[in-house]
Amino acid sequence: MLILGIESSCDETSASVVKDGREMLSCVVATQIATHALYGGVVPEIASRAHTEAISGVVSEALYKAGVALGEIDAMAVTYAPGLIGALLTGLSFAKGLAYSSGKPLIPVHHIRGHVAANYLVHPDLKPPFYALVVSGGHTSLMKVGSYTEYALLGRARDDAAGEAFDKAARMLGLPYPGGAAMDKLASEGDPTSVKFTSATVHGSEYDFSFSGLKTAVINYVHTAQMRGETLDEREKADIAASFTGALIYTIVTRLDKLLTYNQKLPVVLAGGVAANSHLRRAVCDMCASHGVSCFIPPLSLCGDNAAMIASQGYYEFLSGVRAPLDQNAYATLGV
Ligand code: KG4
Ligand code: ZN
Repeated sequence: MLILGIESSCDETSASVVKDGREMLSCVVATQIATHALYGGVVPEIASRAHTEAISGVVSEALYKAGVALGEIDAMAVTYAPGLIGALLTGLSFAKGLAYSSGKPLIPVHHIRGHVAANYLVHPDLKPPFYALVVSGGHTSLMKVGSYTEYALLGRARDDAAGEAFDKAARMLGLPYPGGAAMDKLASEGDPTSVKFTSATVHGSEYDFSFSGLKTAVINYVHTAQMRGETLDEREKADIAASFTGALIYTIVTRLDKLLTYNQKLPVVLAGGVAANSHLRRAVCDMCASHGVSCFIPPLSLCGDNAAMIASQGYYEFLSGVRAPLDQNAYATLGV
């Protein structure tokens, strides 16, 4: 079965053709990062307009690269939640038009489920049940995936997502937006024990995350240095990046440790833009190894937003009977 996936929830316009949920025939991603970098973050209205300009060409290119005509596609899968509402509506409306005009079914896909499904494209042996940890610019969620379409949320970020904290810390250290990848590199050159940033727990919710305190701690640390008239040199910046990264990862892996200690031992899937972080990848794999469970992570190219992951999850949603009506709405926030 051939599914055309469409993703436009934030600042990437993407289309992809995936066969039987597992085989990626093409994946085209048009990123708007250079535009939003001028403002230091994603500007929603600009994102919507850029999606509108890009989407038609991106879909044509995905079909062309897959060597597939629109008539050969069996169904369209599209991200309908969560994300920036105007951005989501652009992709959803385009997909509705394509589905209606070609008489093909339309499948609504939850963005976080899509991130998890990125792993299906590269790990043929991966099947539920497993635990999934999605760490991205907008979300930090720990879930139990009982079947391809049964998700139970175990914990989530109560305030800033991990990626947001990365981007803010990077900005404080003078790195361009989005700073996650640059922070990764800088942290490799620093000493993670040099600055004591603490990891917060959420009282009464052992699997929830809180990163806003950590983010503020970095802001305060840098501001204090500035007020003293000190200029942070590259060595000090690397130490701050390493210490921040260490505290953030500690927050994540301690939840995972508790989960694997007191619950059923299941494989762990890591996904989302921040899953590209080399330190996080290593720490999650080490934690899984210490509990004797498998760890699955997508390659860097499938960690960030892309439509192949949407087409993959769309396949399993389709098999379970999920279809979008033509009045399907988009949602900025929606439980997984
Ligand atoms: O999943 P994603 O592409 O978009 C959302 O759904 O939010 O995630 C983007 C986030 C950004 O915050 C970016 O800085 C972060 O992923 N990111 C990283 C790395 N690469 C991307 N964060 C830490 N280390 C990285 N190597
Ligand atoms: Zn995402």
